[in-house]
Amino acid sequence: MTEPRKPAPVTPVLTKTWLSPRSWTLDTYTKLEGYTALPKALKASPEQLVQLVKDSGLRGRGGAGFPAGVKWSFMPPNEDKPHYLVINADEGEPGTCKDIPLMMADPHSLIEGCVIASYAMRAHHCFIYVRGEALHCIRRLNAAVREAYQAGYLGKNILDSGFDLDIVVHPGAGAYICGEETALLDSLEGRRGQPRLKPPFPAAAGLYAAPTTVNNVETIASVPFIVNGGSDWFREMGTEKSPGPKIYSISGHVEKPGQYEAPLGTTLRDLLELAGGMKDGIPLKFWTPGGSSTPMFTAEHLDVPLDFEGAAEAGSMLGTTAVQVFNETVSVPWAVMKWTQFYKHESCGKCTPCREGTYWLTQILERMVAGNGTEADIDTLLDVCDNVLGRSFCALGDGAVSPITSGIQYFRDEFLALCDKQKAAPALAGAQA
Ligand code: NAI
Ligand code: SF4
Repeated sequence: MTEPRKPAPVTPVLTKTWLSPRSWTLDTYTKLEGYTALPKALKASPEQLVQLVKDSGLRGRGGAGFPAGVKWSFMPPNEDKPHYLVINADEGEPGTCKDIPLMMADPHSLIEGCVIASYAMRAHHCFIYVRGEALHCIRRLNAAVREAYQAGYLGKNILDSGFDLDIVVHPGAGAYICGEETALLDSLEGRRGQPRLKPPFPAAAGLYAAPTTVNNVETIASVPFIVNGGSDWFREMGTEKSPGPKIYSISGHVEKPGQYEAPLGTTLRDLLELAGGMKDGIPLKFWTPGGSSTPMFTAEHLDVPLDFEGAAEAGSMLGTTAVQVFNETVSVPWAVMKWTQFYKHESCGKCTPCREGTYWLTQILERMVAGNGTEADIDTLLDVCDNVLGRSFCALGDGAVSPITSGIQYFRDEFLALCDKQKAAPALAGAQA
């Protein structure tokens, strides 16, 4: 087991400005100590900044948890080719709602983080690739980028440091797969977004085959706080292997759904308290720790520490910390079917296990939920999952089977009940309620 959770920080970090009036403006940001990390960072060397982020233990907040400083260190020290920083703001994982709120409430922390990270990686071009549907967010980011140019935080010779950086906000076109970093790069280059073979990883050959780092919004927005607070301060929050604060997005059957900042390693029991408890007091049935790609948990997992190690040791993944909470009125097979329909729709079709697998899984689940299933369908579902998991080209395939395998693991009886029309009726009536 991971070490016990450390107490929540007294003051929020990433969300501390969110409730201030017009928090998204440069004026408010600078009044609340915004852009104070940048001059300090520009006085350090790129190597010192990479070391600082390594020492902080900051891990990728997009879902995979790869150490950010280590990723930065893969960028070559020379500038034979242009270097790029690409921000993955495509936030598409079902239930995930933290990056768009962050960019809406506090776009300048992302921009300040982009300048610091670009300087550390010797990049002079940064792209923020935003989910296409989030037009409101794209407008807000563009306004903030304009403000930052006017104030001298972007453009040529930033704060007289001799460092130049341009930021371009790029809208995606609404495909979930473009959140996969290499598909995102293809999309940015103007191609149909499909994952590339890795290696080479983007630091070796990324955007336009040049050295590139792709980081999540929340990861980069954490950087100014680390520069100001130091790596030891950052490590005071969270756990030893998963340090720092995290934005958990909580949706579903809770009294107050929304974004809650807490140290990594916080349990659902504590998060539910922040979110006002279960809606109308109806008991918890199942939940996802980090979006639907992460295997579901049940009421027995209320005390699992939600950090990268804790979630994995309990049989799931931390993922995007998108906590989706479902009460007893929801049919598990029905929810699993809805998620599987999503993955089938979003499968890019490049590899056979995922393209065909998600199609067949959807067909079987739809038939079962319609009350026409047989017991053999459960084995067939698991068999198809087995042929998708670990055999697909990218993480979408693996993620697609998580709800099915974990749903059957914990709620097999509900799938079995679907094979009996009389038993299935009440479960399905509940699902539609
Ligand atoms: P990954 O583990 O393959 O890679 C994570 C990062 O580390 C990437 O940037 C990769 O380039 C880098 N990396 C990994 N191994 C490396 C190596 N040996 N050398 C250099 N760099 C290396 O995971 P992936 O496929 O990028 O992301 C999967 C995760 O994304 C899932 O765990 C899921 O939780 C999350 N996800 C998030 C979504 C969202 O909306 N934020 C949507 C869907 C999935
Ligand atoms: Fe495309 Fe799915 Fe294969 Fe990923 S796993 S490459 S989304 S078909």
